[in-house]
Amino acid sequence: MRDLTDITVAITGASSGIGAATARALAAEGASLVLGARRVDRLDDLAAELGTKIAVVEMDVREPADSSRLVARAFSSFGRLDALVANAGIGAYGGIMDLSDEQLREMMDVNVAGTVWPIRAAVPGFVEAGGGDIVIVASVAGLRGAGDEAVYAATKFAQVGLAGGLDRELREFGIRVSTIAPGGTATEFAMGAGRTPDMPGLADMMRAEDVAAAVVTVLRQPTSMRTLIWSMRSIKEDD
Ligand SMILES: NC(=O)c1ccc[n+]([C@@H]2O[C@H](COP(=O)([O-])OP(=O)(O)OC[C@H]3O[C@@H](n4cnc5c(N)ncnc54)[C@H](OP(=O)(O)O)[C@@H]3O)[C@@H](O)[C@H]2O)c1
Repeated sequence: MRDLTDITVAITGASSGIGAATARALAAEGASLVLGARRVDRLDDLAAELGTKIAVVEMDVREPADSSRLVARAFSSFGRLDALVANAGIGAYGGIMDLSDEQLREMMDVNVAGTVWPIRAAVPGFVEAGGGDIVIVASVAGLRGAGDEAVYAATKFAQVGLAGGLDRELREFGIRVSTIAPGGTATEFAMGAGRTPDMPGLADMMRAEDVAAAVVTVLRQPTSMRTLIWSMRSIKEDD
């Protein structure tokens, strides 16, 4: 397995849930991290918890320039960028006519454009370095449609399509593009937009740490091979 000590990984949406758990798991492997999200106070707390090889960037994934700052910070702080975890995302449950224009616009902007901008920022450095990893945290909703989350599913299908296309486009440069497609995971995701903290289903979901372990496992594969899609569910969840 590949040693992750001293590689540098940028993570979007590192302020909570799967992104924060991924930061903890990668820090335990010895990686240097650049943590991006809007809630910088949470990123600062996480950085303080994790120690020295952590940089924090306040960013909104909807802004291309913010992604450029995320990548630039990897080079200015650690001299390199080896992997990008495009994890930031939002969800809201409801039928196509139930959600507001603004909710749908934000979901499409954050989940689709907010995946494209960080990747575009990272690719030139990966090409120059002769390789790199892009790990996209998509969803089972990106593999099959589901009622009450059709637009969310559309954004996640977009991520899966993006990953498939980029694999074909970037493999010749040694760039691996992997998609993680988790089922329900007990995080703050969609709280107030379809989920509640006390809903019974949360206890049956996967933990953020389970998904983070998958990200680590993907990155630890020898660079002579690549993982395309890792679809994962709680034992309690249907397919
Ligand atoms: N939880 C699930 O059931 C589940 C299942 C499958 C897939 N996923 C996917 O997993 C990913 C992580 O979600 P999670 O479950 O860990 O939820 P979460 O705890 O709510 O985390 C979402 C993260 O995305 C960040 N984010 C949201 N909008 C952003 C923006 N405009 N700019 C920058 N960062 C932004 C948030 O940071 P700030 O608010 O601080 O900016 C936060 O760190 C998402 O892509 C989600 O679609 C989740």
